[in-house]
Amino acid sequence: MKAKDLKTAQLNSFIPLSVPDISGNEWKYVKECLDTGWVSSAGPFVRKFEQCSADYIGRKYAVACSSGTAALHTALLVLGIQPDEEVIVPDLTFVAPAFAVRYIGAWPLFMDVDEKYFQLDPQKLKDFLSKQCSFKRGQCINRKTKRRIRAILPVHLLGHPVEMDPILDLAKKYGLKIIEDVAESLGAEYKRKKAGAFGDIAVLSFNGNKIITCGGGGMLLTDSKKFAQKASYLTTQAKDHPIEFVHNHIGYNYRLNNLQAAIGLAQFEQLANYLKKKNNIANDYADSLKSVQGLSLPQQASWAKSIWWLYTILVDRKEYGINSRSLMKVLESYNIQARPFWHPLHSLKAFKGCDAYKIEKSLQLYQSGLSLPSSVGLTKAQQAKVIQVLQDNVKT
Ligand SMILES: Cc1ncc(COP(=O)(O)O)c(C=O)c1O
Repeated sequence: MKAKDLKTAQLNSFIPLSVPDISGNEWKYVKECLDTGWVSSAGPFVRKFEQCSADYIGRKYAVACSSGTAALHTALLVLGIQPDEEVIVPDLTFVAPAFAVRYIGAWPLFMDVDEKYFQLDPQKLKDFLSKQCSFKRGQCINRKTKRRIRAILPVHLLGHPVEMDPILDLAKKYGLKIIEDVAESLGAEYKRKKAGAFGDIAVLSFNGNKIITCGGGGMLLTDSKKFAQKASYLTTQAKDHPIEFVHNHIGYNYRLNNLQAAIGLAQFEQLANYLKKKNNIANDYADSLKSVQGLSLPQQASWAKSIWWLYTILVDRKEYGINSRSLMKVLESYNIQARPFWHPLHSLKAFKGCDAYKIEKSLQLYQSGLSLPSSVGLTKAQQAKVIQVLQDNVKT
């Protein structure tokens, strides 16, 4: 069996959560890298990929990184966040942004999310800053931990944007920086502007499960030339002389190579097409599942355009008959991959010693959330099978 046929056969039997579609210019661009010998981070596709990312989001500068996590770490370093300072992170998210905060010795401070759109809750954030913090001489201090809060790290989760206006206002009022994590929501819009166009710095991920991929990679975006220069410097081993090996600061090898950028650029060419596919997948799930008792479907706020990265439903055990974990197992028995929400971060051992503010919704969502297969290449037949299993399992 040829590799392509083998892949098709595998896909027919197994329905994955989110896998890439490699059907554009990926081969052509990678061949160009190999034919010209440009495989390292000095190759021309890296510049093109950076330019393309900056133009798409509407930012002045882009610095390609080896992963989204590396880009987050770099963003925190660029903003000068210090050890023992705090950065506000949603409690419900993939762990990478919270880990990045710990890499620099700072502390994530976990904030709840809202139950409707699953995003960082601006109202709770406001309550926390006004009731739990003091603001003196331009410094925002968490009264409980006595640590200085330096930044907010909103994560645009699962394809839906965070409500940015109140967060931007709070950041201004309390002198905080904003790093937007757009890893899961490339192409999402808040009030007709792209997610990633708002913070001091924004970060993208091109990990294999994202809407577009380069195998593994990330991007740091900003409108500040100074931040972009510092990010380039830190991600390329902090070279203080072009030839002599002079290093005045600790640097990192966080660059993306030309092969990865070549794949990323080819994927970017397909993004508009993938966004349409994601939208169709979401519409089909919504149409077929809206009348299934005990399943709540994801919502899109009036100010938002979601990219529906992972279509995530909430399962009400009493109404539906089984809980989200049991439903995941049922789907698994049909060779269908589904995934629960991330474990609420504040309760993980890795984050012992971190503060959290009135976490409620993240815990509830963790119990009931289940992400369904959402790959851009999901076929109608595959999606019909997922829907059928969900419809058949409802309590009668
Ligand atoms: C919200 C979020 N932030 C950051 C990352 C980290 O990106 P990477 O895997 O490219 O390091 C991911 C996923 O991978 C993510 O989902």
